[in-house]
Amino acid sequence: TKPPIDFFAAIQELKQEMNAVILAHYYQDPDIQDIADYIGDSLGLSRQAASTDADVIVFAGVHFMAETAKILNPDKLVLLPDLAAGCSLADSCPPQAFAAFKATHPDHLVISYINCTAEIKAMSDIICTSSNAVEIVRQISKNQPIIFAPDRNLGQYVMQQTGRDLLLWQGSCIVHETFSERKILQLQAEYPEAEVIAHPECESTLLRHAKYIGSTTALLKYCQQSTTKVFIVATEPGIIHQMQKQEPDKIFIPAPPTTNSCACNECPYMRLNSLEKLYLAMKNRTPEIKLAEKTRLAALKPIQKMLEMSH
Ligand code: 13P
Ligand code: SF4
Repeated sequence: TKPPIDFFAAIQELKQEMNAVILAHYYQDPDIQDIADYIGDSLGLSRQAASTDADVIVFAGVHFMAETAKILNPDKLVLLPDLAAGCSLADSCPPQAFAAFKATHPDHLVISYINCTAEIKAMSDIICTSSNAVEIVRQISKNQPIIFAPDRNLGQYVMQQTGRDLLLWQGSCIVHETFSERKILQLQAEYPEAEVIAHPECESTLLRHAKYIGSTTALLKYCQQSTTKVFIVATEPGIIHQMQKQEPDKIFIPAPPTTNSCACNECPYMRLNSLEKLYLAMKNRTPEIKLAEKTRLAALKPIQKMLEMSH
């Protein structure tokens, strides 16, 4: 029998051979995070994709992220280890229905969260991520009505932070809506010194218990800077790998889901990727992200606008 493949070594070798860069999101399995050249939130990953001089981008994340990398790099090969790695939030905004919604509000500016398909991006004026949504909305004139899509929770959070009234598309993320408020309160009673930190994709009923709210990168930074030792982390628990690495003496408790019977605080799409699939994608140069040029060009404009408008 053949010896088992050392995926770490094989991936490193392929990376050199192909002049590839591996970009990974914080919700990936720890071993994928450990082999990545860059780990980040959606904004950081977009910036990396916009500036890389590699020939091949291997995207360890979900489809809309790899698609964004392709929109920014039409001539590069962009690989996604498993094309089924989608996103419930992106799925909650089908292009046809969104086009009809937009048509009934022709005077509205469309700001879309990056967690959407290229077709939705192509219908948007500006893209935002969880780290710049508030900053971007603040730059829009107060008289300008805005449609915010597809995440109603992030939209509501932006409304609360900016005092603006946004017309919200009613989409949401299955992972961030799974956390149990009751169990978080129980944990707080058990660990009175603990701070709840949360991602703005969580519902407002949960966010009101959070000491700090931010994107994955912002949450990570907050844990490093805070003097607190115990955190209840209300986002996908993949990020805890980095938190624990950077702050080995602090305690990070994943916010529990409502049901005990599943690990449903883990993103089922993000977790489709594995080191083996990453290796095979590189070896076989497939599955590749492809996009119609017309859609790509239309989707590029609001992404560029975002990059210009955020610091
Ligand atoms: P950020 O990493 O940009 O905060 O996004 C979180 C998320 O849900 C990505 O799918
Ligand atoms: Fe989509 Fe939610 Fe998974 Fe992020 S965590 S990829 S928003 S389903």
